Amino acid sequence: MAKKKSAPTSNDSRRVATSGDIEVSTYLEIAKELSGEQSVAAKEAISEAEPETIIVIDFGSQYSMLIARHIRESQVYCELVSYDTPWEKIAPLNPKGFILSGGPASVYEPGAPLAPSYVYESHLPVLGICYGMQAIAKQLGGRVAPCIKREYGHAILHFSGVDSPLFTNVESSSPVWMSHGDKIEEPPPGFTTLAYTENSPIAVIGNEDGIFGLQFHPEVVHTPQGKTILTNFIYRICGCKGNWTMSNFVNDSIDKIKKQVGKGKIITALSGGVDSSVVATLIHRAVGDQLTCIFVNHGLLRREEVERTFNTFRLNLGMNIIYVDASQRFLNRLKGIRDPEKKRKIIGEEFIRVFEEEAKKIGKVDFLAQGTLYPDVIESASSGSKAAAKIKTHHNVGGLPAKMKLSLLEPLRNLFKDEVRQVGLKLSLPEEMVWRQPFPGPGLAIRIIGTVTKKKLEILRSADWVVMNEIKKAKLYRQLWQSFAVLTDVRSVGVMGDYRTYGYLVAVRAVTSDDAMTADWARLPYDLLNRIANRIVNEVPGVNRVVYDITSKPPSTIEWE
Ligand code: XMP
Repeated sequence: MAKKKSAPTSNDSRRVATSGDIEVSTYLEIAKELSGEQSVAAKEAISEAEPETIIVIDFGSQYSMLIARHIRESQVYCELVSYDTPWEKIAPLNPKGFILSGGPASVYEPGAPLAPSYVYESHLPVLGICYGMQAIAKQLGGRVAPCIKREYGHAILHFSGVDSPLFTNVESSSPVWMSHGDKIEEPPPGFTTLAYTENSPIAVIGNEDGIFGLQFHPEVVHTPQGKTILTNFIYRICGCKGNWTMSNFVNDSIDKIKKQVGKGKIITALSGGVDSSVVATLIHRAVGDQLTCIFVNHGLLRREEVERTFNTFRLNLGMNIIYVDASQRFLNRLKGIRDPEKKRKIIGEEFIRVFEEEAKKIGKVDFLAQGTLYPDVIESASSGSKAAAKIKTHHNVGGLPAKMKLSLLEPLRNLFKDEVRQVGLKLSLPEEMVWRQPFPGPGLAIRIIGTVTKKKLEILRSADWVVMNEIKKAKLYRQLWQSFAVLTDVRSVGVMGDYRTYGYLVAVRAVTSDDAMTADWARLPYDLLNRIANRIVNEVPGVNRVVYDITSKPPSTIEWE
């Protein structure tokens, strides 16, 4: 049985902050998905008109999400939708213009995706990027043909001498990034060629109605003036005012949550990670004690994580928190389990069980709040990802207990991670919490190779503490996507003083990444690696060797399990 404690305390003298992001609420999300309940927030999102929105019609480019992020950074709300989204879903968003993304198809292939007719019938401005430009050309009567040789890489863009607001503050002869196999041979009637490159005589087109096409990708870093072009489109051509700020978001969300929840009671799983912390704080700001947070300690957390989270939320923010120390229960269930996927499944199942048991004790509850973010929403909606093979069943909990009959409250479901951090700062959450590196839901269990025991958890906690401490001292914490220690199943011979040792091998992993889909191993300074290794072998009993992981993702993954 889970043991309930009144309050964890932080009596010992260790100080350095190490808590990370534990996406425990993901388990709850899966539970809801499997039980077929529809998100109230999802319904809300299409029933309430946003002040102004740029719609990105997604043809499947790997850069589509980047376009949306750039637009949002320019303070205009933007949504990414599939090319087959009906107008009824778009209209309530009050679109101010469309961007047609790139994509892997060829417009003249049978069944190639095209822009829905409302894109042109709405008479709103349109910007086609790469494949999106070719779709415009094909649909409006131009000619598209394959390039003899696929153009990939840098090119220099020259203006053709026709003035266009798209190029305000953009210099001619600037570098752009090309990645296309087809090109425009003849623009559609009424279109003018606005710019060219050596290999693409028709690199930018535009007409009097505010429809434009770019052969290159303005959204990638290799097009240094791309952001200016995108900003020109949304402000100078679509006439956006730029009211998407996180202060507005916080105020609007508080109003929305109040309206949606009324006098209802809400529960949420608090983990101390960025998303769950921001969700809890936002809801608490809106409806105070109607929110109860359940903090399940599965015993797989890092050193001082429990105390730190508890202190911030109960003591500093005065929230209702139920703290459950279920560590022993999780350890019992993990006993003898080596397989990473089995570990994940067990932890997921057990988490839901503990959470449900605690929720039942509260009495009548109406809403379950969770930190679903926009990339999760896009991913679950995009047709591509439905077919995509799952490499690790990260959030697959399987064998879930009975449904929880609650409505879902997801106030962050339209935000990117960087926006969530900004909201956290607006809500005055401690910087240390807002800038946490991600931490996996199954916690240290998937950083201990092989079976999980109390002793191994202690070894890993101590080693991880050293890594975090040194990375923070070197002021590299925020630059790294993740940095941590892994306790391998390997033991090797060493020598300490006059004694031969036979100890564990600890691996240190530090990566840079934008989104965890790909990652590069961080080129940490040798001195720093040296300090980490020395401290681990000196301070962590049972460890006599440290290695640094120098593989990138792919082919490796960030976690070792
Ligand atoms: P990988 O190891 O697949 O990890 O490169 C990508 C990102 O996901 C995190 N991760 C998880 N998060 N439950 C989670 O909530 C999991 O089971 C899990 N496995 C990996 C990982 O830390 C990285 O940020």
